[in-house]
Amino acid sequence: MKALLLAGGFGTRMRPLTERLPKPMAPVGNRPWLEHLIAGLKEQGIREIVIAVKHYPERIIDYFGDGRKLGVDIRYTHEPVPLGTAGAVKNAEALLGSRFVVINADIVHRADIRALVETHERSGAMVTIGLVEVADPSQFGVVEQSADGRIVRFVEKPPRGEAPSNRINAGIYIMERDVLQAIPAGREVSIERETFPSLIAAGHRVQGADVSGYWMDMGTSDRYRRIHWDLLDGKLELELPGRELGRGIRIGEDTEIAQGAMLVPPVLVGSRVTIGERAVVGPYAVIGDDCVIGRGARVTHSILWDRCTAAEAAQLNRCIVGSGLKIDPRHLLHEAVVNVIPEAETI
Ligand code: GDD
Ligand code: MG
Repeated sequence: MKALLLAGGFGTRMRPLTERLPKPMAPVGNRPWLEHLIAGLKEQGIREIVIAVKHYPERIIDYFGDGRKLGVDIRYTHEPVPLGTAGAVKNAEALLGSRFVVINADIVHRADIRALVETHERSGAMVTIGLVEVADPSQFGVVEQSADGRIVRFVEKPPRGEAPSNRINAGIYIMERDVLQAIPAGREVSIERETFPSLIAAGHRVQGADVSGYWMDMGTSDRYRRIHWDLLDGKLELELPGRELGRGIRIGEDTEIAQGAMLVPPVLVGSRVTIGERAVVGPYAVIGDDCVIGRGARVTHSILWDRCTAAEAAQLNRCIVGSGLKIDPRHLLHEAVVNVIPEAETI
């Protein structure tokens, strides 16, 4: 079975981090989420992957190529204009088989795809939608089900208080090829607003199946932070680079920590990082590869992507810092989400 990963959205709610980066390429624990996702699929025996790209596609294609380095086979579909979540599936028609899994590439999860396929087979559905429960369903696709799990209503982002339940679309679907016939070609089509409601209205079986394990939509900067704290707290299990230095402290290769610097757990530090005297890193800090934390600097509850500098005595609290950004000496940043355009890129 092949997997189609939807990775073409503009990531508007995660700007400026996604200004020139597809959201699924945002690092989670110092590795692009998309890489964790592909590794997880491979573990479950899914080695043929199609990625539907649109926003800064070269950032994905340059990183993964044909997938050989990860031991999988990756193909790409391109959209001249954004085709929406169903349009992107239709656009991949030529690359998909008789049954396939479609995944919103921006959800961080550890779902058991085989369990979904089992439910799918048992019910004989045309589509099986993975479901999770959340406290506030208003930002998601919400479902109403009958006793046997069949989905009888699908409402995308209902106004607060009007959702038919707390059970939401987890963004993982098992689909029979027949679904493709229900999606018009050549225009933008939303799977949530158009395809699912029309399949249900036409009487096709759309089944709901619980997704077990960790699940979080990366969506906003707040949720992006939460994913990292869950990772540091061990609620989200991912393969991380580096070695455990002490309880809750993980560091990468060739990282240098000056005498008198303090790592306060939980903390994850990448490779080739330099941490200066009297610097304090953590609790809840994720430092990317090749970063420099200057003398006396403090980084708490913050995520720094690769090649960042927090110069001498700078203080960062609850920040997210894009790759290659330099925070000047003595600068104080609180709850900042900052990014920089790489010099090599045109403005
Ligand atoms: N190729 C392509 N083309 N991909 C797209 C397009 C497009 O035009 N539009 C969105 N995507 C991709 C995004 O990159 C993302 O990975 C995924 O489709 C979902 O889009 P989002 O914009 O992140 O949607 P959402 O988070 O508001 O809602 C969706 O996900 C929720 C679960 O996280 C919906 O599917 C909801 O029903 C669902 O509950
Ligand atoms: Mg999303």
